[in-house]
Amino acid sequence: MPRQSPGQLDPATRQALVERVRFYRDLGLTEFYRRPVDPALLVSEPIRAEHEGAQPALFQPAPLKEDQPIPPRTPISTPPQISAATPSADRAAALQLIREDIGDCTRCALHKGRHTIVFGDGSPTARLMFVGEGPGADEDAQGIPFVGRAGQLLNNMIAAMGLKREEVYIANVVKCRPPGNRTPEPVEANTCSPFLFRQIDVVRPQVLVALGATAATYLLGQRQPLAGLRGRVHAFRGTQLVVTYHPAFLLRDPRQKKEAWADLQIAMKELGLKPPAKG
Ligand code: URA
Repeated sequence: MPRQSPGQLDPATRQALVERVRFYRDLGLTEFYRRPVDPALLVSEPIRAEHEGAQPALFQPAPLKEDQPIPPRTPISTPPQISAATPSADRAAALQLIREDIGDCTRCALHKGRHTIVFGDGSPTARLMFVGEGPGADEDAQGIPFVGRAGQLLNNMIAAMGLKREEVYIANVVKCRPPGNRTPEPVEANTCSPFLFRQIDVVRPQVLVALGATAATYLLGQRQPLAGLRGRVHAFRGTQLVVTYHPAFLLRDPRQKKEAWADLQIAMKELGLKPPAKG
């Protein structure tokens, strides 16, 4: 297929390329592409400011409320039939059973505003799994996690790790969109998270990345500022858990991308993945 210049690309592809090049540039990775990057893709600061200024304030990590304890989670067990050797098709079937258990869920109030249950996406045998907070408008419409702007950034993060999105597994703490993208209430998160834990037990990723404070809180069962949880590996349900910023937060504060990249490199080390060459 002949290579297209950026001017010939359709707007969505061009925007995705712009985001990816910008992401690498923010990380200080300027030689990631084998071919020289078209300067037209390195958008100027005024365009960046305009673009980011247009962002709605989605998924702001919620302020920690000490007076709001995390209610106990429903205990769940590892499905005994899943082992490290269980083939992909069996795990896909096990995930389908979890989806069927969820059904047309009305277990918490979030069902009232949702269009689609956003179950999860990716490889049932992924070595790396990402956990976000909950679906936004795009995800609620499409039924797939991380397909909006935060998803585009997550895709870039995955690509920077040397992986394809289809190789990882992605899910959220809650499977229905919270109204106005608010942070899920503890009762909602604790009603829904047992299904997430079952997904983790089926996929059995080597490394789990918690994206933001909500994912970290409900995976680890402790409410702590992200600063206290980032930068190290936590043992969790037989996986190595790494905590980093939520991509939506990184869209609002791109200066933190370097910190997020440092977190992803911890995950890469656990997975035996080599960081790409530095520019
Ligand atoms: N933010 C999330 O936490 N999850 C999604 O699926 C999309 C945006």
